[in-house]
Amino acid sequence: MNRRTLLSQGLVGVAAFFGTRPGFGYPFHILARRADPITLPKLPYDRNALSPYISARTLDFHYGKHHAGYVRKLNAGIKGTPWANKSLEEIILGTAEKAPKIFNNAAQTWNHSFYWASMKPKGGGEPSGKLKSAIEASFGDMDAFRAAFLKAAGGLFGSGWTWLVKNEKTLEIRQTQNAGTPLVDHRLTPLLTLDVWEHAYYLDYQNGRKAYIQAWLDHLVDWEAAARRLG
Ligand SMILES: [Fe+2]
Repeated sequence: MNRRTLLSQGLVGVAAFFGTRPGFGYPFHILARRADPITLPKLPYDRNALSPYISARTLDFHYGKHHAGYVRKLNAGIKGTPWANKSLEEIILGTAEKAPKIFNNAAQTWNHSFYWASMKPKGGGEPSGKLKSAIEASFGDMDAFRAAFLKAAGGLFGSGWTWLVKNEKTLEIRQTQNAGTPLVDHRLTPLLTLDVWEHAYYLDYQNGRKAYIQAWLDHLVDWEAAARRLG
């Protein structure tokens, strides 16, 4: 199974999740006025579903303002350019280190969609099966993984993302600053991500980033989604 297949299969269950474009079956009146090429995906759960660990108010701002804002700015940036006919992933790969304004909004659009799909109500706990074995082989045991993830996410300076990725046969924790995304590294398959921009946790935890990371690991992280992406 190649990485591209893994990426798409990793998003089973959130198929409507990533930037999509109108296609066959689209109502003609919408085609006629040409909808924005990249759409804000629907949240895969109710706005209250992650409470109390991530509140409805945080989701209203994070999804409804920040994520929606990246999508809106991306559409404005690609309008009338060749990127308007490309997929979100093609835009990210094609603009990396070349067109930072478009890249930043495209990568943030993708990263946020992946973040929503990295957690679920009543998540947390521990993975099982092949994923658990892979974590134990790469980090030693679950406690060591947890400590490494907490250290990485808690220590990331400024804004960015902490990822669990597959790199060849091993799993790694990676950090990206600002809009950075492991999608641009063809060797990596993202399995999970945690948004550690302050806007992800400030309303619920103020500056308590560590408490946010712990709550995410204990109660929200979607190990089953990560296992599907691992294949
Ligand atoms: Fe965010």
